[in-house]
Amino acid sequence: MTQTALVVLGTALHTPSRDGLEVLQDCAFVVDSAGRIAEVIPPGARQDEVVAEAEAAGILHRMAPETWLIPGLVDLHIHAPQWPQLGLALDEPLEVWLQKYTFPLEVRYQDSAFATEVYDDLVRSLLAQGTTTALYFGTVHKAPNLILAEACLRHGQRALVGKVAMDDPATCPEFYRDADAATALAETRDFITELRAMQGENPLVLPVITPRFIPSCTDELLAGLGKLAAETGCHVQTHASESDWAKGYVEQRLGCSDCEALDGFGLMTERTVLAHCNFVSDPDMGLMAERGVAVAHCPMSNAYFANAIFPMRRALERGVEAGLGTDISGGFSPSLLDGMRHALMSSRHLGAGTDPGLSPDQRGSNETPLSAVEVFWLATAGGGEALSLPIGQLREGFYFDALVIRANLPRSGLRVRPEITRHQEILEKIVLTADAAAIGEVWVQGRKVLEQ
Ligand code: GUN
Ligand code: FE
Repeated sequence: MTQTALVVLGTALHTPSRDGLEVLQDCAFVVDSAGRIAEVIPPGARQDEVVAEAEAAGILHRMAPETWLIPGLVDLHIHAPQWPQLGLALDEPLEVWLQKYTFPLEVRYQDSAFATEVYDDLVRSLLAQGTTTALYFGTVHKAPNLILAEACLRHGQRALVGKVAMDDPATCPEFYRDADAATALAETRDFITELRAMQGENPLVLPVITPRFIPSCTDELLAGLGKLAAETGCHVQTHASESDWAKGYVEQRLGCSDCEALDGFGLMTERTVLAHCNFVSDPDMGLMAERGVAVAHCPMSNAYFANAIFPMRRALERGVEAGLGTDISGGFSPSLLDGMRHALMSSRHLGAGTDPGLSPDQRGSNETPLSAVEVFWLATAGGGEALSLPIGQLREGFYFDALVIRANLPRSGLRVRPEITRHQEILEKIVLTADAAAIGEVWVQGRKVLEQ
């Protein structure tokens, strides 16, 4: 039997299904010593009893009026080493931006003092934005990725960290690449072993197999990483069909699409997350759905590097798993609240709207735009499902990764007048107007990691 470690009393909003907001009004969330929600108790005699016991034990957190508990936000695609160049040089095309700005920055992380300083700042900043789980691309060299993992463990952020694999001399500069496929595979294997050994049961930080994207990896490396994924059961992440250049490069080299190629290399698994996927075909979406591969939708960077909008409605209807990524620093905001809003806005640009008199000519594909509830789901429960982890919902058995949203604070845009009492409206307000200033306490796996 695990013991009760924390009881949080208040009203929670979460989305167990894509279009289903569930309100857990005035409930007691009982969290066990493993950081999981053991019970959600509605108001009544039993709740009174549990709350009284928790209060006596000093483990009760009673939420204030005008605050709501929501699941922690899940960033499905972020490049940790690119944090220092957030907001820079985004008007370059992807392939130029990588060579001119990004590779010269990423190579600097061999300096462990630099890595420690940047990663410490990054992890603390993301927690303050409500990001309780991040699926990180690291760098090519092994040691700085362990420094990133240590920063996550120190500050209590749930994370998945990947040593970036890139060995193809045709596309990767000599100063920043794996020496060859065998070295890249050995380093990836060592990284997985060392990261796992840093933690006991219930690990907070998981290793991820991370070919940067097909253009930067040889066939030998991709095939080896596919075998390693099967052997270790690790998650897999990469970029797929992001820009015209990236898509065209794969087609020319391998004579097929990213998804088909990755499948051939054994990299399309239930635990695979593909960033972007802007130009995937219908059969590719079918393959993703069949394999249980998820897409990390990164609307901000898609506007820059792809000039394209991922057709999220079509993907969801085809049964593709999906969540949101900031894609720092291809995206310029660390906030998944901003990410939700960009996902909403881009889907509205793509969709034709509801007025039959409107011309679809300039409106992309005529799809029904996403709703506020759907983008909230993407940033929480959708992200959890994409990672096959029990996170993103506030129900029994799930990890208590959660944050408090506070209305009407002096420097926050989230204003909720007393006459607004419908929770659907409150959720819409949160999605469209909340910012980091509205975030109060943040918990990850039952541990309080931030109070502001
Ligand atoms: N494709 C390959 N590497 C990268 C990267 O660092 N960022 C983005 N957005 N796309 C990539
Ligand atoms: Fe990326």
